[in-house]
Amino acid sequence: MTPEWLEAWTPEVGTARVATLFAARFDQDPDGTWSAPGRVNLIGEHTDYNGGLCLPIALPHRTYAALRRRDDDAVRLVSAQEPDGMRTIALADVAPGAVDGWAGYVVGVAWALRQAGYAVGGFDVAIDSCVPYGAGLSSSAALEASVAVALDAVFALGLAGSDEGRATLAALCVRAENEIAGAPTGGMDQAAALRAQQGHALLLDCLDGSVRHVPFDLAAHDLALLVVDTRAEHALVDGQYAARRASCEAAAARLGVGTLREISDDPRGLEWALDKLDDEVQVRRVRHVVNEIDRVTWFVALLDAGEVGLVGTLMNQSHASLRDDYEVSCRELDLVVDTARVAGAVGARMTGGGFGGSAIALVSADEVDRVAQAVADAFADAGLRAPAFLVATAAAAAG
Ligand code: GLA
Repeated sequence: MTPEWLEAWTPEVGTARVATLFAARFDQDPDGTWSAPGRVNLIGEHTDYNGGLCLPIALPHRTYAALRRRDDDAVRLVSAQEPDGMRTIALADVAPGAVDGWAGYVVGVAWALRQAGYAVGGFDVAIDSCVPYGAGLSSSAALEASVAVALDAVFALGLAGSDEGRATLAALCVRAENEIAGAPTGGMDQAAALRAQQGHALLLDCLDGSVRHVPFDLAAHDLALLVVDTRAEHALVDGQYAARRASCEAAAARLGVGTLREISDDPRGLEWALDKLDDEVQVRRVRHVVNEIDRVTWFVALLDAGEVGLVGTLMNQSHASLRDDYEVSCRELDLVVDTARVAGAVGARMTGGGFGGSAIALVSADEVDRVAQAVADAFADAGLRAPAFLVATAAAAAG
C-alpha cells in the first residue's frame, strides 16, 4: 500500500482557485481573498473547556474565502466542495438551529459579530479548502476564521490587526460554532487559526485567554511531525464530546471549583480531588484533565530548554491517558500510535477531539516515509480504510 500524502496548496494556488470560483459563480470580482489554517494540537487535549492549557500549531493547510460586501443583508454562499449548490440566507433569519451544514459556520460568524454589536451586513462568499474535512484538523475553525478576517476587512472592523482583536474574533467564532453550528467545542481551534505564529507553537491559557508563542522548529533538530488522518468516523456534534464536557463540569461543581484548572493550581493536589469524588467515571476524567495540563507545562519547558527529542514520553503518556482515562481514542488511532512507535517514532498520540480523526507522531526527519509506510501497511493488514498522511510545520494564522 503506497501512502497517500495530502499536500498543502501554496497561497498563490489557493487564492487563485477561490478568486476564480467567485468570479465564475457571482459574475464579478471579490473585494479580496482571505485564508485561515487548520491545526494540530501538540499536547493539552480536552483541557480547553476546563480552563486549562493547550499547545496547538497552525497547519500549512488552509481554507480560502473570496468575499464581496453587499448593500443588503443577504448572504450568498458557494463552495468548491459543493459544485452545484448556491445557498442564499438572510442574516435576519440566522438563529440557533436555523441553518444546517457548513453554511452555519459562515453565517454564524456574521451573526456572532452582529450580536456583539459590530456593523456587519450581507456578502457573497466563495470557499475552497485543502484542510482535510472530518480529519480532526479543525476544518470548521479554519472556515470560521477565514470568514472572520474577511468580514473584519470588508466591514472595516479593525479587529484582525492586533492579537487582542483576534482574541475577540476567536471568541465570536466559538460562539458561532457553539450556538449556530451546535458543536459545544472549547476554543483551542479558533485560537490556533487566528492567533498562532509561523515557526511557533501557541501556548494558550484557556483560563484568561492569554498566549505565549513558543519557538517550534523541528527541522533544526532533524525531527518531523507526521500527521495521520485515520479516516475513521469523527463527529463532534454527536453526544460523546458533550458528554465528556458535562462530566468535567459536574466534577468541578462537586469539588466546588469554577473549572478543573483550579485543581491543577491547588496545593492540596490531585489526590485530594480524586478522594472527594465518588463517581468512578468522574475520577478518571478529572485525572486525565489535571495530568494533561501538567504535561503541557512540561512539554513547553522541554521546548524552551531545546530538548525537543525528550517530549516523546509526554506524548505517549497523553495518548494512554486519553485512551484509558478519558476514553476518546479508537481502534484506528491506537493502531497509528502503536505502529508508529514500533517503527521508531520518538512519541505518538491522538490529536484533537478523538473518536476518529488524526494522530501525530514525532519522528526523525529521515524516517518520515518509513513510519508512514509502516502505518499504511498496518491499516491494510487490519482490513481498514487507507489512512492519509501529511507533514506538519508551524504555519501562520488567518490573514
Ligand atoms: C476539539 C474541540 C476543541 C478541543 C479538542 C480536544 O478539537 O474543537 O475545542 O476541546 O477537541 O482537545
